[in-house]
Amino acid sequence: MKIKSQLNQIIKKALDSANIKTTEDITISDATKVEFGDYQFNGAMKLARTLRKNPREIALDIIEHIDTNTLISKVEIAGAGFINIWINNNWLSKELTKIIDDNRVGVGVVENKERIVVDYSGPNMAKQMHVGHLRSTIIGDTLATLFEFLGHTVIRQNHIGDWGTQFGMLIAYLEELGEDNKRQNLQDLEQFYRDAKVKFDESQDFANKAREYVVKIQQSDTQCLKLWREFIDVSLGHCEEVYSKLGVKLTKDNVRAESFYNPMLPKVINTLKDKGLLVESNGAKCVFLDNSDTPIIVQKSDGGYLYATTDLAGLEFRAKKLKADRISYVVDARQSEHFKQIFTIARKANIVSPNVKLEHIAFGTMMDKSGKPFKTRDGGTIKLIDLLDEAVLRAKETIKNRGNYTNSKDLYRVAKVIGIGAIKYADLSINRESNYIFSWDKMLSFDGNTALYMQYAYARISSIFKRYNQELNGKIVISDALEHRLALMILKFEDTLLKASENGYPHIITSYLYDLVTLFMKFYENNPILKDNIDRETQISRLLLSKLTANTIKKSLEILGIEVVDKI
Ligand code: ARG
Repeated sequence: MKIKSQLNQIIKKALDSANIKTTEDITISDATKVEFGDYQFNGAMKLARTLRKNPREIALDIIEHIDTNTLISKVEIAGAGFINIWINNNWLSKELTKIIDDNRVGVGVVENKERIVVDYSGPNMAKQMHVGHLRSTIIGDTLATLFEFLGHTVIRQNHIGDWGTQFGMLIAYLEELGEDNKRQNLQDLEQFYRDAKVKFDESQDFANKAREYVVKIQQSDTQCLKLWREFIDVSLGHCEEVYSKLGVKLTKDNVRAESFYNPMLPKVINTLKDKGLLVESNGAKCVFLDNSDTPIIVQKSDGGYLYATTDLAGLEFRAKKLKADRISYVVDARQSEHFKQIFTIARKANIVSPNVKLEHIAFGTMMDKSGKPFKTRDGGTIKLIDLLDEAVLRAKETIKNRGNYTNSKDLYRVAKVIGIGAIKYADLSINRESNYIFSWDKMLSFDGNTALYMQYAYARISSIFKRYNQELNGKIVISDALEHRLALMILKFEDTLLKASENGYPHIITSYLYDLVTLFMKFYENNPILKDNIDRETQISRLLLSKLTANTIKKSLEILGIEVVDKI
């Protein structure tokens, strides 16, 4: 249910009726405290300045024209001229009753559907996927799911790094190993890379061959391309293993690698040249942007292209061929400058039209408890697959003594849902721009803003329905303040998702979930459901509220890519 826009509509009408004209952007907000009602309008203060009138007087004028019979039950003026707004219980029950069996839990589809390209994951094939790519994968997958749920058309793009000089060295080394040793050595890409590099530094012959292979791949030499393909397949296979464990929706079809754009790179240079943006400096082709003396190199003096050139080609492809209205790059915050630059260049060169929205969905670094970037004890990169396996093991330890599992397979099934959920939720629940401190204890806690807290609440509600195994015939009757707040919270789901999708902030969904579940727990403690002395009507009403809460938890977690179980 879109509540905010309805309230804004009501305010607008009231302003019109009160003959108050304004061009100011004044809208309703959530009340900051329970005492202030459900929503607040503080526009009277803003209007007071332009109208040169007392804000309380203006507020009074406005509330006289607010209809308090349907959506709103009560308005009150507070403080300097705030208008506090309460939502009508009858309206809440009516709206909730409508969505009891709705599998979208009352969330509609947006009116202006967009084609959104989400660029996420983007591991480099030369090396093992690392934690930075884990964040991109988790956040990107959630946003893609969210956009899709809201009715947009989403095009997932996995911009894998499969091109560049390292590949000469890697495939030369691959060839040297011979058929028998290949598989074994490619098991650990990080090690493979190190071994190849040692060889490269030690042997002049090998280094020459590596350089020669770089040129040969570029010239599409069959043998070299074959080795390169082989290498990419193995490396991508490692990533797919991670995707599958994580349950993310990326498939081979979403891979549009750097190499895909190679044939388009000369055209990018030409376009930049035509627009007069290209400057030669020491043989390299560069673009200078207004606010900086540092050039952005798009072609090196030896003819080689760069990361930025490929991204410019990518922008053109996404805007023109994929017909995107919005292009979202879910990439580490350390690349902010890069995206700022390529967006500016693309706009200047008219590579994308002005109405295409470009955004860098930046995220911070994953840190360990001591505040250092996340590494193994000896300073190496942590293998993601090991990290995910550890999460499941730890989840198993956390829940194994609860006695709820029929056998070890059953326990493992639940542990997987909880372990993977914990990793994802921990990542999604902080503002993505902040650095994020990885803590097993925190993410696997039953309390607090964790996946487990939400999954546990869901399981608890499921157990209520296991005990109460009857038709739910009746309606929701809101009988106290807690029920009122819970009911409203459920109906705020749509506003929450819309807000989260505006600028791509998944933590808006997790904060909502935390509020919802905390409220539900209070409600559940105070308003017994299955006790003997509860009258039938109240019981049904509370059961329906519980069911809707469970549906909302499940749907929210689904958008976050996290599963639920009906017992923990
Ligand atoms: N491969 C890049 C990296 O690991 C990420 C790619 C992000 N996407 C893009 N279009 N540049 O840093």
